[in-house]
Amino acid sequence: MRVLMIAPPGAGKGTQGAVVAEHFGLDRITIGDLLRRNVAEDTELGRRVQPTLARGELVPDDIVLELTRQGLAAAKAAGRGYVLDGVPRTMAQALAAYRIGLRLRMTADVALHLAADDDELLRRLLNRAGTEHRADDNEPVIRQRLRFYREVTEPVLQFYARRRILLTVDAQRPLEAVSADVIAALRERAAGLAPR
Ligand code: AP5
Repeated sequence: MRVLMIAPPGAGKGTQGAVVAEHFGLDRITIGDLLRRNVAEDTELGRRVQPTLARGELVPDDIVLELTRQGLAAAKAAGRGYVLDGVPRTMAQALAAYRIGLRLRMTADVALHLAADDDELLRRLLNRAGTEHRADDNEPVIRQRLRFYREVTEPVLQFYARRRILLTVDAQRPLEAVSADVIAALRERAAGLAPR
């Protein structure tokens, strides 16, 4: 199974992505983590993207699409599916990721959308700010990330609805309840997928 995760900041892409990857034996491609790891390791890429991450803005497409291509290629080489967390954020990224998938014969068969409202998401991320100290977890930057998601990323869901691969789960509930629904919905979807 090949899963894209599309959800606002704080909805649980990282949390549920780990659960899904573990449950179905999929590779996890987590763009935000890869970028933050480069910052922590002070690589050339990390130095380039650090200010953008701290502002909660998008890093250039060429960087995230190359990370996406590498992740999909590694999953293909390992003979596994994947959970891709972080791409797409824009319609241009959705089309580019689709083209990468076509070239590798690794296009997504599920776009998993986790739905939650902004008040809940702000609460979760401010809560995390107290323990994890992510550079983008402060109120003005969280509000900017949420605004960008609502204005630019959320409309991209229509692309996946038209391709009939969109799966929406209510993520505004306790973590375990969300995981149970996500797994059940993906199992049902997997049962309907032709083997390949
Ligand atoms: P990224 O790391 O993807 O950040 P994000 O989208 O803002 O999402 P978060 O990681 O904050 O939240 P999440 O949905 O993963 O939720 P989580 O499971 O962590 O991206 C960071 C940055 O990288 C971007 O701002 C951008 O600069 C750059 N970037 C990434 N992709 C890019 C792209 N394609 N193009 C350009 N730039 C890109 O959970 C959040 C918190 O809530 C945790 O504390 C968790 O324990 C808690 N929680 C989760 N579920 C629940 C629940 N059900 N109930 C209560 N608490 C919960």
